[in-house]
Amino acid sequence: MSLSESIQLIFRHNATTPDGASPIPFPRNTSTTQGISAPDSYNLLDLAQMLRPRIIVEIGTNMGYSMICLSQGSPSSRCFTCDTQDLSKYRIATQPNCIYVVGNVVELLKSVNEPIDFAFIDGDHSYEGIHLDLVSLLPRMLKRSILAVHDIHEINMSDRSRPIERVVSELLLDTGWDYNFAPRAQGFVEPSQLGCFSHEG
Ligand SMILES: C[S@@+](CC[C@H](N)C(=O)[O-])C[C@H]1O[C@@H](n2cnc3c(N)ncnc32)[C@H](O)[C@@H]1O
Repeated sequence: MSLSESIQLIFRHNATTPDGASPIPFPRNTSTTQGISAPDSYNLLDLAQMLRPRIIVEIGTNMGYSMICLSQGSPSSRCFTCDTQDLSKYRIATQPNCIYVVGNVVELLKSVNEPIDFAFIDGDHSYEGIHLDLVSLLPRMLKRSILAVHDIHEINMSDRSRPIERVVSELLLDTGWDYNFAPRAQGFVEPSQLGCFSHEG
């Protein structure tokens, strides 16, 4: 299934699944104060459920909200996540299919020996930070892999004044990756800030 097809399915799924049917500890129509927003939690859960990536890598664990969604969305995946701060005592849940590393992308990748099928970047949001994440991850990804970047706003990607859009433009859009916004599901109080990239449109 292509990323665009998954996103179409996610839109329908989000619009119809009742609250409480998911492992995410807040309902779909709430505003969250920790971690990623409610719509993006569900977008990650749904993407993991539909794509079933073998290897998932996340940069920026924080308290583990996004990793709960990814690892529970696809329990057969092997997940790897890192944070430069050790926030393990605040983590909302430790997932059995997930390895947590205190450190940055370089330290994390020492534990990953197979190609990355799905990567989610939500760590250091500076130009240098995202640049390091991408140049480290991209050689470990395949043509069919999918990359999700958080805190991309619904902007004109030709506006390169914000660090995230500038790095993404230079390292992804200028090198043949296509850009798909995650869907904004009906009933959410917050917009999605998840940009997804793939080679297949
Ligand atoms: C916005 S939070 C991540 C939220 C998380 N994805 C969630 O949904 O709960 C960003 C996290 O990235 C971590 N961080 C900052 N720089 C980093 C880096 N270079 N590598 C990995 N993590 C980093 C911060 O310590 C912080 O916990």
